[in-house]
Amino acid sequence: MINIVIFGPLGSGKGTQAQKIKEKYGFIHFSTGDLLREEIKKQTPLGKKIETIVNSGALVSDEIIEDIVKEFIKNNLNAKGIIFDGYPRTLHQAETLDKELINNNLKIDLVIKLNISESIIKNRLKYRALKEGRADDNEDTIINRLQFFYQYTLPIIDYYQKTNKNIVEIYGDRDVNEVFADICKQIDKLL
Ligand code: AP5
Repeated sequence: MINIVIFGPLGSGKGTQAQKIKEKYGFIHFSTGDLLREEIKKQTPLGKKIETIVNSGALVSDEIIEDIVKEFIKNNLNAKGIIFDGYPRTLHQAETLDKELINNNLKIDLVIKLNISESIIKNRLKYRALKEGRADDNEDTIINRLQFFYQYTLPIIDYYQKTNKNIVEIYGDRDVNEVFADICKQIDKLL
């Protein structure tokens, strides 16, 4: 089983590219953001608990995420591959994912780091807010999300370098298919 982490700030195209990888390679797309939004939409007890946090741009607690991830890995050990999108987001989550994979004789095979400027992020998300009305795509929340990204998520790359992960950096401000072609070259090397 191939495990890929698609890494990058908000609006860098993680979800868009993960969806394309899923379609082409038949991998499972695991997006903690999508799962959390689904809980909020259904107004489950978890959804009610996390709604204010997600809508403010802050991070949901590692404990909540850990439960979701353990369950997910346990249920998908026969998958061809998994794309982790929006997860891990803290150093603690990165360490937990490594441990969970190792416990199942698995590892992270590829980290795709999508690079993109803040101005492009803001333009993309402003446009998405008009189209889709996602509750965390307003200007104040985008600033909060960026701060959380720099403070808690970006340091994961240092950890991945120290633990010798296979990291590839891909420039994200290009046509969706051009970005995808570069990603495919990297995935094809693993097959
Ligand atoms: P999450 O859903 O993970 O959101 P995010 O990381 O902020 O990412 P986005 O969905 O905004 O962007 P993306 O990189 O996926 O880009 P996309 O493809 O959508 O998390 C949301 C919240 O949930 C968090 O803030 C937190 O509260 C909580 N959460 C989630 N996971 C958590 C965790 N592990 N721990 C704790 N809390 C967690 O593209 C963006 C837009 O750009 C789209 O409109 C798209 O059509 C467009 N686009 C994409 N690529 C291109 C391109 N090449 N050219 C032009 N437009 C493009």
